[in-house]
Amino acid sequence: MDSIKDYVENNKERFLAELKGLLKIPSISADPAYKNDMLKTAEVVKENLLDAGCDLAEVCNTPGHPVVYAEKIIDKSLPTVLVYGHYDVQPPDPLDLWDSPPFEPVIKETKIHPEGAIFARGACDDKGQMYMHVKALEYMTKNDELPCNVKFMIEGEEEVGSEHLEWFIKEYKDRLENDVILISDTGMIAKDVPSITTGLRGLSYLEVEVTGANRDLHSGLYGGAVANPLNVLSKMIASLTDENNHITIPGFYDKVENLSDEEREKMAEAPFDLEEYKEKLDIDDVYGEKGYSTLERGSIRPTLDVNGMWGGYIGEGAKTVLPSKAYAKISMRLVPAQDWKEITKLFKEHFESIAPKGVRVEVKPHHGGYPYVTPIDTTGYQAASKAYEKTFGKTPIPQRSGGSIPIVSLFEKELKSKIILMGFGLDTDAIHSPNENFGVWNYLKGIETIPWFYKYFTEMSK
Ligand code: BES
Ligand code: MN
Ligand code: MN
Repeated sequence: MDSIKDYVENNKERFLAELKGLLKIPSISADPAYKNDMLKTAEVVKENLLDAGCDLAEVCNTPGHPVVYAEKIIDKSLPTVLVYGHYDVQPPDPLDLWDSPPFEPVIKETKIHPEGAIFARGACDDKGQMYMHVKALEYMTKNDELPCNVKFMIEGEEEVGSEHLEWFIKEYKDRLENDVILISDTGMIAKDVPSITTGLRGLSYLEVEVTGANRDLHSGLYGGAVANPLNVLSKMIASLTDENNHITIPGFYDKVENLSDEEREKMAEAPFDLEEYKEKLDIDDVYGEKGYSTLERGSIRPTLDVNGMWGGYIGEGAKTVLPSKAYAKISMRLVPAQDWKEITKLFKEHFESIAPKGVRVEVKPHHGGYPYVTPIDTTGYQAASKAYEKTFGKTPIPQRSGGSIPIVSLFEKELKSKIILMGFGLDTDAIHSPNENFGVWNYLKGIETIPWFYKYFTEMSK
């Protein structure tokens, strides 16, 4: 494996050019207008996997966007690593806030990345991180260094809730058999502070609709006498958290697993600079649940947030109107052992119960996912830890993340596997935001680290 460093150095321009090719295709899963680009991306990923040495690669149809499946089986008696990733990306909006077009990848220097970062939608989440695995495989097959079997499952619906992946996993259960699942779709603490993600939050996403009168009304003639759905919705949403920023939905915290004092102390040891955090976001203070640190609020505690709220007149100038309807999109990030289906039900019941007379309230659940947490004493974690030690010269820190990859807990349930989250992104990568980028250094470091995981995992599985 020692030649991986040179291999990366000698091939880096090509590795970057190939990734750019993938980033040029706008694989926006949320927008049906991009259906063909989704197919095109899946085909390109399939071809890339064949070029990297897979014996078999297929674009598998599902009731939604296709999944790319590929494998290289060298010896059935050896362990099998299943790599998961996603080729779909978030919509690039708002477009006017991008410094360069989202699907015309360019490499630019930044403060954190003097060696350059690739700017494009999907650069980090997840095309760039997924492609590290393709190139790591290429190195191993071309240099006769692949120590075990490998399978790839690259989906196209992660950013819209992986709706059809459960179907796919059940349908392809036998083919997906594995000894460990490897995913790069998270981040690390800093370039010089490697970390392995040991937890993800779950999610319940829903939309609410409040209806008042049967038409928009003159706010002078009717204002004060008829319920204004926007006023009512604001009040209802405000009542969902109390003065300590605790969520007030009855039963919401019932299943939350609280960390022991010892675990919290351990967490507080992770490097984190609150002043720098505030400065980067240009805020004068942080905000959140009383009794918890910023790191805890963003990972081990559940949340409730309005993601969008609208209704009435939002055009130029003023229009005096009581809207007939008001809407909001709400997300709740969940922690072990909250059940998103139960939480969705609790929200719905509570929200409908607090609606005042004079309005009608409808709660429409969207999608969700279960939270995930994994111990660090598994073979997979230990192999990953050794791989980072090899390429970073430091032991990685286990860290629970605030983000969600809903499919991860389903993998554990359906495939009975341990999942290892080796993420190489940084907080500054602006995933889901304008100017998403991925450090060239991070990309190449990922390609360099992954083969070591294969080696150690195979050795340690004996
Ligand atoms: N890769 C992210 C999740 C992520 C990012 C986890 C960084 C940890 C660190 C993933 O693509 C994502 O965006 N997930 C969505 C959930 C999905 C149901 C839309 C999320 O977290 O909002
Ligand atoms: Mn992702
Ligand atoms: Mn994402």
